[in-house]
Amino acid sequence: MSPLAVDVISHPLAKQLVSELRDKLTPPEHYRRVCHKLTTMLVLEATTGLQTASKKVDTPLETTDCDVLGEGLAVVPILRAGLGMLDAVTELFDDVKVGYIGLERAHDTAVAHRYYCKLPDLKGRRVLCLDPMLATGGSASQAISFMKANGAERVVMVSVIAAPEGVSRLNLDHPDVRIVTAALDRELDPRKYILPGLGDFGDRLFGTF
Ligand code: PRP
Ligand code: URA
Repeated sequence: MSPLAVDVISHPLAKQLVSELRDKLTPPEHYRRVCHKLTTMLVLEATTGLQTASKKVDTPLETTDCDVLGEGLAVVPILRAGLGMLDAVTELFDDVKVGYIGLERAHDTAVAHRYYCKLPDLKGRRVLCLDPMLATGGSASQAISFMKANGAERVVMVSVIAAPEGVSRLNLDHPDVRIVTAALDRELDPRKYILPGLGDFGDRLFGTF
């Protein structure tokens, strides 16, 4: 098997936040705050490669050459759990286009079907795909295919927890896509939930147990 291509952030605060998300006693209101903080850390890592442009800026003392963001950004959360990651991106980046893809896994097969898709033209923009759980990788792979059909050329997958199966699938289906995550877990259970994981992210985020 080829080695997994995935970037796992290693900051101690990220580890603390992942542990809070895993804890079954963490209630939804705290879950949302932790998800927001952790996404900020993930997105800073996922956007390290953004191009910059040069701009002359007048300081109070003189004119100097400065670097500014030189590449458009778009973000696409996969509904519904990806919604918990969206605000962190729009708070960091003023000029960001937002698209939405609704995907839901069937309970018996764990195969995701699409129920909603609204994407801006993604051509020329760096695109962040947000979904906290990369389990089989089926949802992320489908979503990225829709994004590419809408012009996306440079996509980064941002997840909270990834399973080896999901990373493998994405590496195979979309070898050009960088994966940034906060934890690479052990395996999937027979229902295709991540182990040790954190359960159903959407349910824990929105309190729908
Ligand atoms: C979860 C999760 C991902 C998907 C990951 O969504 O948020 O979208 O499963 O699994 P996969 O990698 O095997 O495709 P779910 O289908 O439970 O829908 P929800 O976000 O509406 O709860
Ligand atoms: N979706 C989740 O929310 N959790 C998992 O473990 C797998 C898919």
